[in-house]
Amino acid sequence: MIKKIGILTSGGDAPGMNACIRSIVRSAYKNNIKVVGIEYGYKGLLNSNFINLSAESVTNIVHKGGTILKTNRCEEFKQKKYRKIAYNNLRNENIDGLIILGGDGSFKGANIFSNEFKVPVVGIPSTIDNDIYGSDYSIGFNTAVQTIMDSVDKIRDTASSHERIFFIEVMGRNSGHLAIHAGNATGAELVLIPEINIKNFDSLVQKIKKINIKKKSIIIIYAEGCNLGPVDKITNYVQKKMKNSNVRYSILGHIQRGGSPCEKDRINSSILGYYSVKEIIKKDKSKMVGIINDKLIVQDLKVSIKRKKKINKDLFKITEIINNY
Ligand code: F6P
Repeated sequence: MIKKIGILTSGGDAPGMNACIRSIVRSAYKNNIKVVGIEYGYKGLLNSNFINLSAESVTNIVHKGGTILKTNRCEEFKQKKYRKIAYNNLRNENIDGLIILGGDGSFKGANIFSNEFKVPVVGIPSTIDNDIYGSDYSIGFNTAVQTIMDSVDKIRDTASSHERIFFIEVMGRNSGHLAIHAGNATGAELVLIPEINIKNFDSLVQKIKKINIKKKSIIIIYAEGCNLGPVDKITNYVQKKMKNSNVRYSILGHIQRGGSPCEKDRINSSILGYYSVKEIIKKDKSKMVGIINDKLIVQDLKVSIKRKKKINKDLFKITEIINNY
């Protein structure tokens, strides 16, 4: 029987993590399961940074960005000798299972750890990148898209007033999900993503020049992992080749990870938290809960880390068609 579980948040924080922690703690409480919060992700597991989480202790956090448990990217956890320390710490605290909120890197660690030490683990996709295979949805993605929209809408005002061409770099690591959604929603004239290689700088210039015949102000959403490299370098290149235009860039950066979670990120976090407790009770080894077509799914954690999630090609195509004429 599972009597006590640990929760940790790992990797980049994502808006909605707190709503999910709250849901896990309260759902566990209803099942008479004690909950320990492990601070600083896997690092906290190595250092026994444990705090008891009561149903009351997660009051007034549903609306808060970031993670009350703090987070970390822990290199040591990649080594077995450290994972053994983590396991011993879990045993000393009588923790029977772990619920892990994070992205693919965190899931890799979780899967190895679960297999090595036979610890039940449930992963909950939590990354603004939304790049976890097997789930349409990831905690924080929708809030991040909203933040990008708010920023791009503002840049659009100045871009159109000055008739400028703007490269706007968005996060996503080596995936373009954030860029595609933001590009569609902001009416961006061009969306550049890592999944689609641009042949060279000049072919990009040709594309921009073509759009520029009809539109003087142009927004280009540039996913950080694109094959052409740093956005400032590209901006300078395009400026040199388009002397009559004003080309600028803006890197949105970590603003995309912060803020109060939107409605979808609060509600889905609650749903995923609730079902993660249902799963951990079953004591199956490593699982992930996710959402596909608005329905809850449970899959082996190893499946989610083996494959790369495909981009929404349809949305990409529609964006290209409707954001230009
Ligand atoms: O994985 C989330 C993410 O925000 C990526 O989009 C980005 O590349 C990365 O984290 C940035 O990480 P850090 O905050 O550690 O620099």
